[in-house]
Amino acid sequence: MSRFWNEKTNSIEPYVAGEQPKPGQKIIKLNTNENPYPATPKVSKVMENLDIGLLARYPETSSVMVREELAKYFGVRPEQVFCGNGSDEVLAFAFQAFFEAGENARPLLVPDISYSFYPVYASLYSIPLKKIPLKEDFSIDVEAFCQPEGGVAFANPNAPTSLKLPLTEVEKILKANPDHVVLVDEAYAAFSDETARVLLPKYKNLLVTGTLSKSHSLAGVRLGFAIGDEELIEGLCRIRDSFNSYPVDCIAQRVAAVTVEDKEWVAENVSKICATRDRIKEELRKRGWTMPDSKTNFLFAKPCGIGADSLYTKLREKGILVRYFNKPRINEYLRITIGTDEEMDALLKAVDEIAEGK
Ligand SMILES: Cc1ncc(COP(=O)(O)O)c(C=O)c1O
Repeated sequence: MSRFWNEKTNSIEPYVAGEQPKPGQKIIKLNTNENPYPATPKVSKVMENLDIGLLARYPETSSVMVREELAKYFGVRPEQVFCGNGSDEVLAFAFQAFFEAGENARPLLVPDISYSFYPVYASLYSIPLKKIPLKEDFSIDVEAFCQPEGGVAFANPNAPTSLKLPLTEVEKILKANPDHVVLVDEAYAAFSDETARVLLPKYKNLLVTGTLSKSHSLAGVRLGFAIGDEELIEGLCRIRDSFNSYPVDCIAQRVAAVTVEDKEWVAENVSKICATRDRIKEELRKRGWTMPDSKTNFLFAKPCGIGADSLYTKLREKGILVRYFNKPRINEYLRITIGTDEEMDALLKAVDEIAEGK
């Protein structure tokens, strides 16, 4: 609390990002769903050949190079693509552009357990929120999202549950909310086998967001995007241009464009992560852990023989960071990002040592 802060600043509960290691600290970082592999070698070439004269000028406002590459990659038109400083920023713009603010507005529907930034943005922009509880098995309660209110936002696959809502169910939500935007946050869709992008030609109320932070190994570059009908993209541009005309810097634009273009490299990167994920899932299940079949680059896993909170602490002592949410219904689970095979083997070794009391 501060007497200099306004009411919003005093009352907001900011998002808490996963712990970042201190410079020089040697840890295995499995807590923020980054990709453990370095970016495509094509990025090194871009950096080596960077014309520093570019840095003296403002970047192109709409990230046209990246939008064109993303449009080719996803088979849409560049006018259907919007780029921002990470999908966090794109989500923030979407909340401001499409969901009504104020006490009398109809609420935005979100799952009660999902990406923790949604309630923060809703509160920051005074958007009333109705949290729809996940079902007992952590799946999204589709019927409850089919009672239209002020719009819908959910992650698919969801985080931290790692579960995918099948497209047929996503379509039910779109059909039931024809007059409001349905925002499907596909930060992890590259590790899944379906995407709501295929529904775009049928639904003008669909906005799909995505990121290069996970599948493209570019979390440090901060490049997120949205794909939707041109009317929605124009709405996002109006908000961007009322906030910051240059959200994506000129280096990020070049790095992102060559990475998206390098399709084979991205496919191989994703399949390496999926193979490691499925191997570690089986290894942990052999140890009595329970977890759903993840469609993401992390596991949402309930340890066996030890509480999630104390395992989190013991792993941390051994230099392995995972994510623990001390929240009702999910406080018996850990969210474990898939690292390299070596990192995941070190995790298994640490889990075994802890089980043996070492
Ligand atoms: C569901 C979900 N959406 C969006 C993001 C934000 O990604 P970024 O801002 O790196 O694009 C994350 C990050 O972990 C996420 O888990």
